Amino acid sequence: MTSLIDQEINISAPVQAKPLAVILLGPPGAGKGTHAGPLSQKLGLPHISTGDLLREHIHGQTELGRLAKSCMDGGNLVPDDLVLTMLFDRIERSDCAKGYILDGFPRTKPQAEALDSYFGTKVQVAALYFSVPDKLLIERIIGRITCKDCARPYHLHFDPPKLAGICDACNRPLFQRSDDQEDVVRRRLEVYHSQTQPVIDHFASKEGVFKEVLAMGNKEAVFQDTVRLITTL
Ligand code: AP5
Repeated sequence: MTSLIDQEINISAPVQAKPLAVILLGPPGAGKGTHAGPLSQKLGLPHISTGDLLREHIHGQTELGRLAKSCMDGGNLVPDDLVLTMLFDRIERSDCAKGYILDGFPRTKPQAEALDSYFGTKVQVAALYFSVPDKLLIERIIGRITCKDCARPYHLHFDPPKLAGICDACNRPLFQRSDDQEDVVRRRLEVYHSQTQPVIDHFASKEGVFKEVLAMGNKEAVFQDTVRLITTL
C-alpha cells in the first residue's frame, strides 16, 4: 500500500508570513496521531502531541510524569496548569518558529482560551475536527498498537505493521498503551464529551479557521481530505 506521505497530493506549507498552528481536534481514536505524522512531513512542521509529551515524562519518571500517570490511567485529563506549562515550553523551541501541528491540545475551554491569548494576532490557525461516531472509536482504540520509540500508531486489523509487533518506520517494538483498555476508553470518551466538545464549539464559532474532516473512511482518503481542507482555509 502506498504510504500517506508518498501520495501525490499537492500540498506545501501555505504561503504565509505568520507561523502556522495546525490544531488537530477530535475524540480519542479519531486518527489525530495517525495523520499528524504524515502531515508533519508534508508541511515541514513539528508534530507536538501532549499525550506523547506526558508519556515521555512518565517514562522519565519526572514529577510531572508521576502526577500525569494516575490521571491518564484513569482516563481523566491532566490538570490544565501542568499541561499549559509543558506545552508552552515546547512551542517556544526554535523548531517551532514556522509553526507546528498540535495533537491532543487544547482539550478544555481554559486551555483553548490560554492558546488564544498566546496566539493573539501573531499566528495563523487551521483547526481541523476529525469526526468519527463513538461506536467506531472503541474498536479502533482497543486494537491499537503503538511504537515505543516514534509513537506511530498501528491497528491490529485496520493498519497492521509489515512485520508483526515491529514498527515499519524505526524497527522498534510496538506495545499497547495502558489507557487503551476498554473500560478506560469508555471513561476517556465521557471526558471528551463533557470537557473537550466545548473546545470544538469554540473553534467552530471562529471565522475562517475551522473545518470538519469526516474521518470514518479509510485513512488514505481521510488524509487527502485533511490536506485539501488545510489548503482551503
Ligand atoms: P492522547 O495521547 O492525546 O490520546 P487521545 O486524545 O485520547 O487520542 P488517541 O491517541 O487515543 O487517538 P488519536 O485520535 O490520536 O487516534 P490514532 O491516530 O492513534 O491523550 C492520552 C491522555 O493524556 C489523556 O486521556 C489525558 O489523560 C492526557 N492528556 C493528553 N493531552 C492532554 C491535554 N491537552 N490536557 C489534559 N490531559 C491531556 O488512531 C487510533 C487507532 O485507529 C489506531 O489504531 C489507528 O491505526 C486507527 N485508525 C486511524 N485512522 C483510521 C481509519 N481512517 N480507519 C481505520 N482505522 C484507523
